[in-house]
Amino acid sequence: MSKDRVFVPECVLYACCGSKCKKHGGKQLYKSLKADVKSRHLKRVVQVIKTGCTDRCKHGPVLAVMPQNEWHLGVDELRGKQILDAAIENIKISRT
Ligand code: FES
Repeated sequence: MSKDRVFVPECVLYACCGSKCKKHGGKQLYKSLKADVKSRHLKRVVQVIKTGCTDRCKHGPVLAVMPQNEWHLGVDELRGKQILDAAIENIKISRT
């Protein structure tokens, strides 16, 4: 791939790392998802991005899955892994 091409993943998980979500495990969720994607060698397929506050502080940690536009609330690391697994499965299905 040439340097002027922009990498576009098939799926992006936005993990809120705003202060309220961080206080309830948002940063650990983000790190866990990043590590999981890396260990599965899926960095070019799924990207995990930390965001600032998404205005759903009472329900954090918040994890949004795009382009599906799924918003998951109160996500712990185990639930995050399940959400990642489902996102990967969706990609596999869409490729068939
Ligand atoms: S800090 Fe995550 S929604 Fe506000």
